[in-house]
Amino acid sequence: MDAEGRALRLFGESFAGAPTHVVRAPGRVNLIGDHTDYNDGFALPMAVDRATWIALRPRGDRRVGLVSESYSPACLDLDRLDHTGPLWAQFVGGVAWALDAGAAAGWDGAIATDIPVGAGLASSAALELAAARAFSVASGADWDPVEAARVGRRAEVEWVGMACGIMDQLTVACAEEGHALFLDCRSLAFQPRPIPAGATVVVLDTGTRRRLVASAYNQRRAACEEAAARLGAATLRDVGEDDLGRLPPGELLRRARHVVTENARTVAAAEAMERADAPHLGALMVASHRSLRDDFEVSSPALEAMVSAALAAPGCLGARMTGAGFGGCAVALVESASAERFIGSVLGAYALACGEATPAAFPSLPAAGVDCREL
Ligand code: GLA
Repeated sequence: MDAEGRALRLFGESFAGAPTHVVRAPGRVNLIGDHTDYNDGFALPMAVDRATWIALRPRGDRRVGLVSESYSPACLDLDRLDHTGPLWAQFVGGVAWALDAGAAAGWDGAIATDIPVGAGLASSAALELAAARAFSVASGADWDPVEAARVGRRAEVEWVGMACGIMDQLTVACAEEGHALFLDCRSLAFQPRPIPAGATVVVLDTGTRRRLVASAYNQRRAACEEAAARLGAATLRDVGEDDLGRLPPGELLRRARHVVTENARTVAAAEAMERADAPHLGALMVASHRSLRDDFEVSSPALEAMVSAALAAPGCLGARMTGAGFGGCAVALVESASAERFIGSVLGAYALACGEATPAAFPSLPAAGVDCREL
């Protein structure tokens, strides 16, 4: 049964009566432009065809009853939000808090997902945006995707404590079917970009997860802020390659160089997509991976094994780690005609290199952002 069917079934098993709505919030994979969003820079993600679903029904009171197929149930009191209760439910509580809990209304919801959790595919942003959509149904508020993305990010930064940028939430909220989004994370403007004809995006999950991602991520973010301050810039978005020479050789220079060159590669990648130039897009992805590995130091042995396996497999146009790093997923751009052989070859080579992890690979068409169906 697919995740939508499981959410509907779980609702029936957990609550009396039938759900009135079902919400879908996709995961995302970033084609290029990582660790740029919190530097006001550029990114080029797309929503994947895997999603978190909530089957829900508004309640007459100020409580949110939550059941999930993977975690213990939780009940939130909108008049007394706090950090007790299971961590997963904090993402929903954080959204209520960021929305202004006073105006939010209660609902019962059953949650199921087929997004691998903690794998760099924005499973937390999907839960935040699905919850935001559910709150808008329950309270009858208008749905504004960009505003919802801001709310989701605020929940994650200020309630959950992960100082993320806006890329994940903006993609989950605003993605367009068939297209990646070229995001300007300063203005929050975005433009759709088609995947070049004849090329397929393949998500490669290493099967590894890192527990300390939040602290390493927050350290990288602090280094970027320090580099910008030393260069007298508001953010690294305002720094050019020529300015980097004013930083002394060492770690701070390498961190800043990743962000500055990644912004340039992401702009070039958006142009390559406009020209349907898949080989150039692939080459930029490979350069991005090297920069994330050598300058930003957010790769891992499993990601290295996966990206090497991908680059050696038939039909590969480019491959890189994706998202925050330290484990999780890589992404490859592959000639569509070779996609099946590519996946077989990568999984075989990865198993030889990294026997202890259980990898997975799936091709994905770009999906649409959050939506809601009345039942
Ligand atoms: C995580 C964060 C995003 C972004 C990426 C790295 O996914 O949530 O905001 O910073 O890492 O590009």
